[in-house]
Amino acid sequence: MKYVYLGLRSLRLSGRYLGFVDVRIENIEDRWMKKVLVTGGAGYIGSHIVKALLEAGDEVVTFDNLSEGHRDAVVGGDLVQGDLSDGPLLQSLFSKYEFDAVMHFAANCRVGESVKDPEKYYKNNVCNLLNLLAVMRRHHVNRMIFSSTAAVYGNPVKVPIEELHPLQPINPYGFTKLAVENILRDYSRAYGLISVSLRYFNAAGADPMAQLGESHDPETHLIPRVLAVASGRLAEVEVFGTDYPTEDGTCIRDYIHVNDLALAHLAALKHLRGGGENLIVNLGNSRGYSVKEIIKCAERITQKKIRVVHSSRREGDPPVLVCDNSQARRQLHWQPKISSLDEIIQTSWKWEQNRRY
Ligand SMILES: NC(=O)c1ccc[n+]([C@@H]2O[C@H](COP(=O)([O-])OP(=O)(O)OC[C@H]3O[C@@H](n4cnc5c(N)ncnc54)[C@H](O)[C@@H]3O)[C@@H](O)[C@H]2O)c1
Repeated sequence: MKYVYLGLRSLRLSGRYLGFVDVRIENIEDRWMKKVLVTGGAGYIGSHIVKALLEAGDEVVTFDNLSEGHRDAVVGGDLVQGDLSDGPLLQSLFSKYEFDAVMHFAANCRVGESVKDPEKYYKNNVCNLLNLLAVMRRHHVNRMIFSSTAAVYGNPVKVPIEELHPLQPINPYGFTKLAVENILRDYSRAYGLISVSLRYFNAAGADPMAQLGESHDPETHLIPRVLAVASGRLAEVEVFGTDYPTEDGTCIRDYIHVNDLALAHLAALKHLRGGGENLIVNLGNSRGYSVKEIIKCAERITQKKIRVVHSSRREGDPPVLVCDNSQARRQLHWQPKISSLDEIIQTSWKWEQNRRY
């Protein structure tokens, strides 16, 4: 048990001196040690970062409304169930714990849904972020790591995509993420907030121990869908468009292992704790794979035939999205470790066969 010793104090009752007492505050860890707040830490990416933070020796508090996340995905630290729209709850959270940084994953992130229901996206991804920033300001917490996305670029005019590429989102989801990047820039100028915005390309893979993995309902991401077909949970996988100007006619994406995202978050935290400046960097492998290549690789690893249905192109799906990750390498001294597609799919397959939630 840790405590702070405040020394001997005289004890008086109704002005009458009764003697001296030892004054100490016990169990100070909970109240006074620096902690990282992870919003959305029960979700796919956040849960892997929580695990990485704990392994790195950080204390973690996960804040999640469990709308998409899973209680079982939070492998350690404290879990506070709540919604970012709840100002008083955020206020009491920041009063209870002393945070030195916030990692902000909580958001809605289905592109198609954002087109049908933009209000939900602007409210959750932008308004709720403003709530969070207001409480951070009140409690003098000025470090944030933000989950941005390749969707801020829209249809690329040049590939590989560098950070200075024009920012022209083509759906409300992308616009909400760009709005947050702009808010963080303005809050930095006005209030001294320092942030790292990490523009993820396609997050993929799972914890190599299969303790954690991707589990959304509905699942919209390609690799978990393909593997759900391999394991018999799904009848078939749809391939949207086979007439793209790519070698095999299907879309090419840059898949980055979720543990490599975790390493980048640790590096970003170190950067901020070391007094580093605002950063915006791409996180990807700088290597693209087509939908057909993913399916072929999954068939090889699972030794199963994947039933495929060909559909027409989806609106707003660019042919190729591959990043230039040299800024992340340079500025964060980061490099991906699980970069082969085989390894990425192997970890997802292990999870698919041992799903805990
Ligand atoms: N998955 C990807 O490929 C990808 C790519 C680019 C960016 N991102 C971004 O990364 C972040 C995490 O993505 P993910 O795939 O892990 O998504 P996810 O849906 O699995 O995780 C998001 C978590 O946030 C929680 N949440 C949502 N709104 C909340 C609120 N108002 N209050 C409290 N909790 C709330 C959900 O319950 C969920 O656990 C998101 O911000 C997403 O936009 C993801």
